[in-house]
Amino acid sequence: NQSDTGSISHIFFVFGASGDLAKKKIYPTLWSLYRDELLPEHIRFIGYARSEITIEKIFENAAKYMKVKENEHEKYEKFVKINSYIAGSYDNGQDFENLNIEANKLSKQDSAHRLFYLALPPSVYESVTELISKYCRPKSPGWLRLIVEKPFGKDLTSSNKLSLHLKKFFTEEEIYRIDHYLGKEMVQNIIVLRFANQILSRVWNRDSIATVSIIFKEDIGTQGRGGYFDEFGIIRDVIQNHLMQILSIIAMEKPRSTKGEDIRDEKVKLLRSVVPIKLEDVVIGQYIGDKDSTDVEHQQGYLDDKGVPKDSTTPTYAQVVLKINNERWAGVPFILRAGKALSEKKAEVRIQFHDTPGKIFDTESHPNTTLARDELVIRVQPNEAIYLKINTKQPGKMSFNIEETELDLTYGERYKDIQLPDAYERLILDVFMGSKINFVRSDELQEAWRILDPILAEIDKKKIPTIPYTFGSPGIQQAFDIAAKYGYIFRGTYVWKNERSA
Ligand code: BG6
Repeated sequence: NQSDTGSISHIFFVFGASGDLAKKKIYPTLWSLYRDELLPEHIRFIGYARSEITIEKIFENAAKYMKVKENEHEKYEKFVKINSYIAGSYDNGQDFENLNIEANKLSKQDSAHRLFYLALPPSVYESVTELISKYCRPKSPGWLRLIVEKPFGKDLTSSNKLSLHLKKFFTEEEIYRIDHYLGKEMVQNIIVLRFANQILSRVWNRDSIATVSIIFKEDIGTQGRGGYFDEFGIIRDVIQNHLMQILSIIAMEKPRSTKGEDIRDEKVKLLRSVVPIKLEDVVIGQYIGDKDSTDVEHQQGYLDDKGVPKDSTTPTYAQVVLKINNERWAGVPFILRAGKALSEKKAEVRIQFHDTPGKIFDTESHPNTTLARDELVIRVQPNEAIYLKINTKQPGKMSFNIEETELDLTYGERYKDIQLPDAYERLILDVFMGSKINFVRSDELQEAWRILDPILAEIDKKKIPTIPYTFGSPGIQQAFDIAAKYGYIFRGTYVWKNERSA
């Protein structure tokens, strides 16, 4: 019975409730979890922020992201009813005491479990976390879980400072650092692919693999988010977290078990073996508007974004090549590339295998002198897929004519009726369950910064200019050239099956 306040078992606090992230992601996620009856039955949600607004207004603003279906209105109303909002400062103890009093009114025993989602600007992190710990802890046996969003600092020093601060007030057990890429289906699948398939685990090393590319592309610019983005740039915004997380799962050794701590131990161990990046292995770029485009957004360059200073040198595109000094990976380049305002939206991992030695096939029957390399592609988004590019005999031909094709597991085709949950849904549910597998531990964070911090500092110090690239282009040639120098081969002869049949 949801009106019986005595039985409230969980309170979920949304800090920054009036902000963009809460509106676009957090409230819609809470709603879908509630709708699918995945949350504890006796739960309440309290929004908190500085703005003097009402919960009704917050839901009005979030309405277009909520996706409430015709037959769900009644349930939605129920969800709205168990939400409330309190306005208060981010640095005054009194306001947090009040918040605590309000929360206590919901649960007779003051011991409901409390989850705090911090959708806040980094500038208020320290005061908010300190005050939550001081004034808003539940009474035993209730537990507290704190969900923190990036940016976890701007560099190694500020990240360590934040970690130390959190450590003063919370146990590592209580902290859930979100990297939403860890909630994506395909990223979660990497562990299964690697460790549940002999055919893959046997070749997952320098003997068979020539290059690994981890690629993130977006076909949108900063879209008014330039104010936030300009302070960070693409290396901090995407590579330091999302791509480094993928890298560590792709390259780590087999964990002792699938327990969170065992997996995270292996990820940290791997990151520790990454050698310092050289400036010559880095390419940075910034998008400019495409004046010829008919799309108004494409006409805007990064510097046209209102929040961006006119002389900004912040990169919106970057490629770094990492090397891992261990027995499995020595000599294999890991090419991490991320860019906004490109020709397409795509995130994928490409694992290219060595050339086939010992040539026996007649090259005249094949336009190129060498066979195409086998390549395993894990497409994280959109349209999740795993496909292995291989050579096959051209069907029906009398001789050994060779054709490039693929073994294809496209999810949309193979798993037609399965709805993949959104990354935030999985992760928030993980927090309720107390599962840490998909959250970033403080030492992981520290290692990721250790790897990128020196190069970020060098770019700043030497004022390395960004290379301009046009909105909607495939990327920056210098980056492709470096990838080629490191052995990544692009032949341009392979055609994805869907295009072949089109
Ligand atoms: C965020 C970055 O973490 O990830 C954004 O701050 C980026 O700049 C976003 O657009 C991409 O997430 P997704 O899930 O759309 O690939």
